[in-house]
Amino acid sequence: MCGIVGAVSQRNIVPILVEGLKRLEYRGYDSCGVAVHQDGALRRARSTSRVAELQQQADQDGIAAGTGIAHTRWATHGAPAVHNAHPHFSTGPGADTQAVGRIALVHNGIIENHDELRAELKARGYVFHSQTDTEVIAHLVDHLYSGDLLDAVQQALPRLKGAYAVAVFCRDEPHRVVAAREGSPLVLGVGQTDGENFVASDAMALAGVTDQIVYLEEGDVVDLQPGRYWISRLDTATGRYAAVTREVKTVHAHSGAAELGPYRHYMQKEIFEQPTAIANTLEAITGISPELFGDGAYRVFKEIDKVLILACGTSYYSGSTAKYWLESIAKIPTSVEIASEYRYRDSVPDPKTLVVTISQSGETADTIAALKHARSLGMPHTLTICNVATSAMVRECELAYITRAGVEIGVASTKAFTTQLVGLFLLTLALAQTRGHLTEAQEAEHLKDLRHLPVAVQAVLALEPQVIAWSEEFARKENALFLARGLHYPIAMEGALKLKEITYIHAEAYAAGELKHGPLALVTAEMPVVTVAPNDTLLEKLKSNMQEVRARGGQLYVFADGDTAIESEAGLHVIRMPEHYGALSPILHVVPLQLLAYHTACARGTDVDKPRNLAKSVTVE
Ligand code: F6R
Repeated sequence: MCGIVGAVSQRNIVPILVEGLKRLEYRGYDSCGVAVHQDGALRRARSTSRVAELQQQADQDGIAAGTGIAHTRWATHGAPAVHNAHPHFSTGPGADTQAVGRIALVHNGIIENHDELRAELKARGYVFHSQTDTEVIAHLVDHLYSGDLLDAVQQALPRLKGAYAVAVFCRDEPHRVVAAREGSPLVLGVGQTDGENFVASDAMALAGVTDQIVYLEEGDVVDLQPGRYWISRLDTATGRYAAVTREVKTVHAHSGAAELGPYRHYMQKEIFEQPTAIANTLEAITGISPELFGDGAYRVFKEIDKVLILACGTSYYSGSTAKYWLESIAKIPTSVEIASEYRYRDSVPDPKTLVVTISQSGETADTIAALKHARSLGMPHTLTICNVATSAMVRECELAYITRAGVEIGVASTKAFTTQLVGLFLLTLALAQTRGHLTEAQEAEHLKDLRHLPVAVQAVLALEPQVIAWSEEFARKENALFLARGLHYPIAMEGALKLKEITYIHAEAYAAGELKHGPLALVTAEMPVVTVAPNDTLLEKLKSNMQEVRARGGQLYVFADGDTAIESEAGLHVIRMPEHYGALSPILHVVPLQLLAYHTACARGTDVDKPRNLAKSVTVE
């Protein structure tokens, strides 16, 4: 993962670099650093504290200059420690200190052949000061440097195997930053004053600085200097780098630095923003039609006869929920695959498949790779449900539905999930219509239910005080089970994921019918068992599964619909949902599970918005 920002400017660029890093913290936050070209030397500040403290450290050390690079890290190679934090310096062979440097470099991604390169560079006399794969690139560029930084970087890149975005500058060329991407995102920001230019992992890092953005393509190398930039890429026919032209787009990126308002954490704010996020996602919908997903969608929907959903984490659970809708409403065979598994297994491709990726960020490396893998197997029709219109995922896919959840800052996904479900339900209806399974009356009924969703979610949010009372019990536990059946089974999985990622309580979800096939052995009076119990056709079956838990002394915490005859008694705690919501019920039932995870995390005192070891956008494999 990791986030990169770089700049060449006439003014002191450090505050802009640090502000950019704050907006990139969603990409990783275990350490950070900034390096500049100052008074003829390379200077840097690095820290394992949060980015907010980096500016203070830079100020104390008097670090201020116009050319610089900065980085926020999510550790892959080497522990989160200052000596592993970027920028990394190279000072040439034999230098046993990193205090001064000739080359400074930041990197996002993974260099797979770092061992081999390290051995080669050590043999040339380079001394390593970190456990990172990144340091090999700094030394490699240094080794290849003979007065022209661009030339050195262009020579180094073909030696790297893996995925990367890098930004680098050199002591001997004070007004130049060279950056490149292969497998990790990187944008160029064309400055609007004094000829300054920028690079960053995401346009959001440059919000308020420039809205003139070039989305660099795989293999692009960009040379930034004051007043000019030059993009080149390797021409495999000639073996030489040649200039390429890329479109400059005006991008109104959100700064992401939204105010918390009355909320304690961004996650809480985002849970409470769900009525608005859903309303925004539905805003332009006046009726169901394939064209909601882009021009040409009707032709594509007519051509395909199955759906393959690829996603990770929470997005995988929204896809798993959609499978129930797609098969029961649109009558289209659907499979859902974890992207990181799908890309490496042998499967049987069918060209008449609609490949659907789901992603909040649109930058998840595994999902993008799975999408490309599906296409390489001969499945050309691709559609994404994504929250970021400018993301790689949207650019890669033939069709798209952009959810309008707004920027999601909390690492644990909430409003992105419920808006994904809205997008997937619309896709279900559009496919049902194309396949002749949606009458006008059914369309009108579904649209009415969709439009009422914001109000229905608002009513569920009013259950917060009851959920807080439960969370105090949960905060004292180290394990929890989540049960549900049918359409709500993925919701139980999502509830368990939310609880484990922000409270660090071990939580597992089971389809309730599976209980007696193994997990029942775990049930004791110490085991809270959260049960998602909507008033649907499986309720009676679910009640039998609940009895199995009761009989073993397990503590049931049940989210039941208002009209369900399940009453609280010893060992059976019930919170009533305001109304049963038919096919869209998962969108309501996930909300109290989000609140339960959130308030349990608060009671345990964890870092809710930045849980340990995680990052918001997973841009490495
Ligand atoms: C969990 C969570 C993750 C993401 C996953 C995929 O709360 O947020 O599981 O859902 O990393 O990310 P996107 O949706 O950006 O592809």
